[in-house]
Amino acid sequence: MKIGFLGMGNMAQAIAEGWVAKGLVSPTDLYAYAPNQEKLAANAARIGFIPMASAKAVVQAADTVVIGCKPYQIKSVLQEIGDEILGKSVWSIAAGWTLQTFTDAWSEIGVNTDPDSGYCVRGVLCIMPNTPAMVGEGVFLFEKSCSLPEAELMEAKRLFEGLGVVETLPTELMGIGGYLSGCGPAFVDLFMEAYADAGVKYGLPRATAYKLIAQTVLGSAKLQMVTGKHPGELKDAVCSPNGTTICGVAALEKAGFRSACIECIDAIVNKKKG
Ligand SMILES: NC(=O)c1ccc[n+]([C@@H]2O[C@H](COP(=O)([O-])OP(=O)(O)OC[C@H]3O[C@@H](n4cnc5c(N)ncnc54)[C@H](OP(=O)(O)O)[C@@H]3O)[C@@H](O)[C@H]2O)c1
Repeated sequence: MKIGFLGMGNMAQAIAEGWVAKGLVSPTDLYAYAPNQEKLAANAARIGFIPMASAKAVVQAADTVVIGCKPYQIKSVLQEIGDEILGKSVWSIAAGWTLQTFTDAWSEIGVNTDPDSGYCVRGVLCIMPNTPAMVGEGVFLFEKSCSLPEAELMEAKRLFEGLGVVETLPTELMGIGGYLSGCGPAFVDLFMEAYADAGVKYGLPRATAYKLIAQTVLGSAKLQMVTGKHPGELKDAVCSPNGTTICGVAALEKAGFRSACIECIDAIVNKKKG
């Protein structure tokens, strides 16, 4: 399978680098285009993919095209590649783009997506990734509505499972799923930074504080995933009667920690466009 990236920014690099590092894809089967050719060449030298001079050249070289640019850039990219996309598949990692938005965009441009009307786009899979993919611990939300041939969907699943966890969600849950896993790393980072500040306030060297809290987040997450236990049960196991932890839990609840987390997602859901 020849895979071509349109856009080779942070997320695309994490994916391409992960596939190559894990031996899931040969770098000679990876192509990429990005407007800043100097930056592209430097990334190509590091990761091993083949840098291309145009989006069209990537699409011509590849069987599957990964849309790795920003969501607002996609329409003009689709316009630029036009009918070159016929017979190829698209895997999109762009936030907010769904099978339906791709179908609508192509319909506006006049690119055929309907197999009953002749030669068409082979299929589309919309994916919401997150940055821990860089260390092989990503979350990849696959939109359930997907027009890829079954064998190619299985191959996509295999490749992304090599970089973390794949979860398939109905279209209407891709948004909220993406707020938790796609935006989530920033919330967890803020949490770690805040606890490290507290550690520093009471004398811990900052580097030690980051190490302690990061490993605690990692370990707690792993414990929950391995045991499948309710997070409340795991929390209870750390809180002894009249102990220190329950004092901290009570202070967090008083400060509205749980409500702050829910309001954080409310703020995203209610974010005005523009
Ligand atoms: N970062 C995240 O945490 C995250 C999480 C979930 C989803 N995503 C999705 O991942 C996608 C990429 O995000 P990112 O954070 O990786 O952004 P990024 O680092 O800014 O990368 C964007 C890439 O698109 C390229 N580009 C710009 N115009 C283009 C064009 N006309 N044709 C082809 N490529 C073009 C840029 O090239 P130049 O650098 O040469 O301009 C750059 O390589 C977005 O759609 C985003 O919604 C990101």
